[in-house]
Amino acid sequence: MEPIEAAHVRPVDASAPVADAALDAHTVIDVAAERARTVGAGLSHHFNAAGAALPSADVVSTVIDHLRREERLGGYEAAAAMRDQSDAVYDAAAALIGASAPEIAIFDSASTGLRVLMDALRPTRSDRIVASSTTYVSHALQLMTMAREQNVDLVVAPVDEHGRMDVAALDALLADGRPSVVTVSHIPTSSGLTEPVERIGEVARRHGATYIVDATQSIGHLAVDVDRIGCDALVTTGRKFLRGPRGTGFGYIRSSLLERLTPTAPDVRGAKWTGPTDWELSPSARRFETWESSVATRLGLGVALREALERGPESTESWLLERALLLRRSLSLIPGVSVVDPVGSTSAIVTFVVEGVAAGRVVEALASVDVRVVAVPDTHGQWDLGARAIPSVVRASIHVYNDEADLDALLAAVEGVSPASRPRWEVTS
Ligand SMILES: Cc1ncc(COP(=O)(O)O)c(C=O)c1O
Repeated sequence: MEPIEAAHVRPVDASAPVADAALDAHTVIDVAAERARTVGAGLSHHFNAAGAALPSADVVSTVIDHLRREERLGGYEAAAAMRDQSDAVYDAAAALIGASAPEIAIFDSASTGLRVLMDALRPTRSDRIVASSTTYVSHALQLMTMAREQNVDLVVAPVDEHGRMDVAALDALLADGRPSVVTVSHIPTSSGLTEPVERIGEVARRHGATYIVDATQSIGHLAVDVDRIGCDALVTTGRKFLRGPRGTGFGYIRSSLLERLTPTAPDVRGAKWTGPTDWELSPSARRFETWESSVATRLGLGVALREALERGPESTESWLLERALLLRRSLSLIPGVSVVDPVGSTSAIVTFVVEGVAAGRVVEALASVDVRVVAVPDTHGQWDLGARAIPSVVRASIHVYNDEADLDALLAAVEGVSPASRPRWEVTS
């Protein structure tokens, strides 16, 4: 495996002037209404959408109602009663990303989706996988295992001066015409960076590489369109910015890829056993699913998808990015606090460190005043945090239910925990 160049990322200059247009962005998010339908919004200052966001009351009641239906009718009978609603989940997922319903497979997580798709590609020693430095830990572990056990050539793509995939270097790499899979994390777990997925798509397409996007942190956060990105496959999870139940996710497989991609372990859900040694795969992406799944959480995912569509992906994106800009600027004004997102980061994931205080300790201190953030250690991203020599960051991620009072509480709590911003007598006592 080739190492990436490390010293690429400078801390964000969050105090730099920003075009007024960015702050005037057209935003029509009704925060009060979002809070009213989100029980948890009134119980803590929750800044962990990138871990698992707060679901709406409708998402939760849909899941519970179906469990009650199963209690009364039995699992199979309850599923039959909700068949139309279950089918509508595929339509909603497809509508959100500009795909068609047969190109959607529902999984229990993004990692399952990535694993099933990578396995189905059946890479061999003649193949090369080019992965972004922002690749999520579980996906990286799978790719490294493929490299070790199947002799696949794994290359971590070089990064540009902003810490993003270097598209020109990717272009040069793919120019040798070797069969390649390019896999990119749209937004990583470990910083607010956004990969240039559309430009990567253009290069991948020109060289005939298969292009997979991990949109786990971007669906429900940014407006995502698979044709604009030009990806062959995309995978995401339900519980993060999409605000779905835990244990849900979905994948998109472009119909042209679907025609030549078969699961390594077909399941009765996606295949019909037609003779002693024969079977037929479903023509749709459901060929990658398993029969057994939680119907209750699928239905909850469907509600979350419809809510995301109603809210409007463009409005959500501009509102979240505007708030993130404010948060980055405000954090960077607190003595002893450094925003460590790569320069130019704009997403609603904001990472920072507090001088002299371990990230885990910051998280605990903030939790004691009901401000929920998480620490992300370098073991969740060796090609990113490891390469930047940052052992751990504090991650605050914003969603549409976070109001001004939440932001004020977060900033006050961070100020309170930073030794550099506390009076000297308090630090030394
Ligand atoms: C960028 C990214 N990709 C993939 C995953 C894995 O998602 P899941 O836990 O649904 O498998 C995560 C989880 O945090 C993530 O942040």
